[in-house]
Parts: sequence; C-alpha cells; structure tokens
Amino acid sequence: MIHRYIQFLGLKQTEQLLIANDKPLKPYIRVNTLKIKPQILKDRLEKKGFQLKPSKWFSYSFEVHEAPFNLGATHEFLLGYYYLQNLASMLPASILNPQKHDIVIDMCAAPGSKATQLAQIMRNQGNLILIEKNALRIPALTINVRRLGIINSTILNFDATKLSNYGIMGDKILLDAPCTGEGLVREDPTRKKSRTINDLKSLAKVQKKLLKAGLNSLKTEGMLLYSTCSIAPEENELVVNDVLKELENFAVVKISNAYGIPGLIQVYGKSLREDLKFSNRLYPHIHDTIGFYLCLIKRIE
Ligand SMILES: C[S@@+](CC[C@H](N)C(=O)[O-])C[C@H]1O[C@@H](n2cnc3c(N)ncnc32)[C@H](O)[C@@H]1O
Repeated sequence: MIHRYIQFLGLKQTEQLLIANDKPLKPYIRVNTLKIKPQILKDRLEKKGFQLKPSKWFSYSFEVHEAPFNLGATHEFLLGYYYLQNLASMLPASILNPQKHDIVIDMCAAPGSKATQLAQIMRNQGNLILIEKNALRIPALTINVRRLGIINSTILNFDATKLSNYGIMGDKILLDAPCTGEGLVREDPTRKKSRTINDLKSLAKVQKKLLKAGLNSLKTEGMLLYSTCSIAPEENELVVNDVLKELENFAVVKISNAYGIPGLIQVYGKSLREDLKFSNRLYPHIHDTIGFYLCLIKRIE
C-alpha cells in the first residue's frame, strides 16, 4: 500500500498521510432538516452537555467537540433529528444536488447516510430509488429511512450492475461504490492491513460494471456522482478512465465549490483523460477528513 502511495503522492506526502491516518477523526452530525432546524437541535443537545461547532462546509452539520455520552443514545437521535456521519461523506449528495422533482437513484444505498441526505436535499419530494444488493444490509437502510421520516423513497434489493436492464432512467444517480476503504484508516485502523492487492483488483472490476450500468441509466443532461472512501487510483481515476473510454457522450464536469484537490491525470506511468482533473481527492493530511474520491460525470447527449 505504502509503495503505491509513494508513486502518486511522493515520499514526503506519504509520510504526512501516514501520520494523519493515526490521528482520530473528528465526529460530525448531519442535522435532518426535514424534522428540525440546525440551531434548535444545537440548543437542545448543548443543554444535555454536548458541545457543537459549526462545520466548515455545511450549515446543516456540526462538529462534535465534546460528548458527555454516546450520540447514538439521545432522544433526539431516536427521533431522527440527526445522523452520525463523517464530513467527507456529506459531500456526494450535496454535490449531486438533486432537485425536488427529479428521479434519483442511489445504486449502493445501505446503510443510508447519503440516501437520507439526498432525501433531505429533495425535501422529501420527487422519486428516490434506493438499491442495495446485500439483503443483510437492507434492515439498517430501512430503519434509517424510517427514523429520518423519509417518504419519497423505494428500497430495492437487487444487483445494481443490472440496473440498465430495468429501464429506469435517472436525472441524478449516486454511485457510492463498494471499495477497499483504504481511506477509512482513521475510522478503522484494521484497514491498514485487511485488504490485499487482489481485493483491489476484484473491486475495480465491480466498480467498472456498476459505473457502466449507472451511466447507461442516465437521462440526457443527467449527472452521476461516483464516490469511494478510498484514495487508490485503481478504484477511482483508473475506473472512470477505463469506463469512459468505452462509452461515448459522457464528460467529467467540474465540481463547483471544489472541496478537495484535483484528480490524477498521470499515474503509475499512465496518462489519463484530461477532464479527470475536475474530479476531487480528499486526504487526511490535507483536509483533515477520511481519504475520499469524488467524480461528477454528465451525459452530454
Ligand atoms: C460504500 S457502501 C455504501 C454506503 C452508502 N452509500 C451510505 O452512504 O450509507 C457500498 C454498498 O454497496 C453494496 N453493493 C455492493 N455491490 C453491489 C451491487 N452490485 N449492487 C448494489 N449494491 C451493491 C454493498 O453491500 C454496500 O452496502
């Protein structure tokens, strides 16, 4: 893993990344604005002894500075007033920015962090289709959807690599792909060693199938947001590069309010498509988040 990082980050940044990976991640909550205003929730939680600081990116999220007890054990949590979610993971739904009347598809939805945020941005309107292949993860998704009071969604337990067979066309599609989670070391230190190069290769195959199926299910002018909690180019730029080579009429578009640094257009001695510079990488040592990747793709015709 480190050998690969040195190739695209260089020695100095790799060292900085490894040091940052050992620092605990700041906890955040996302306020469910379908049920409560951020300031009202802040006041309620602060009366219970929590200390919340405004988040740097969203008016509806707070950094948890001080927690006298577990944030999953409050009355407000059970009422669906907030979701425990790390800051980088709030970016995909926000960047995709679905509108009230859109058909929106979340291809890999469980346990529902981004799905419930999509519903919140859509103001509980439009059509939100939540797909999840693993039946064992459906209950967690269902519980979160119910707890947060979401009524614009349909949960489907099927394999999203087959999405294009169903004829559902989306205005906006989120593909938060299954990945090695190489960016999650700050949350889960076992990730330093738990994934092998073979995992990386087999996941890249699934990611390409999912991305192809998603792009084929986009309406003209529709947008797909591809994200992973991995900094591995094999799961990110190289996936997008290979899939867009096969499909015409798609372009990587610039993320307005870019949060990270530009995606790679040269890696492991290979030149990639130029527009991948519009995708975004987030790193623990630069952005103080988990490692994350975001790529917004538009169907041009
Ligand atoms: C990174 S997680 C998604 C996290 C979720 N988006 C969230 O924000 O809570 C990837 C999910 O994709 C699911 N998955 C893997 N392969 C799939 C497939 N072919 N079709 C649909 N879901 C799949 C996994 O079971 C897992 O729940």
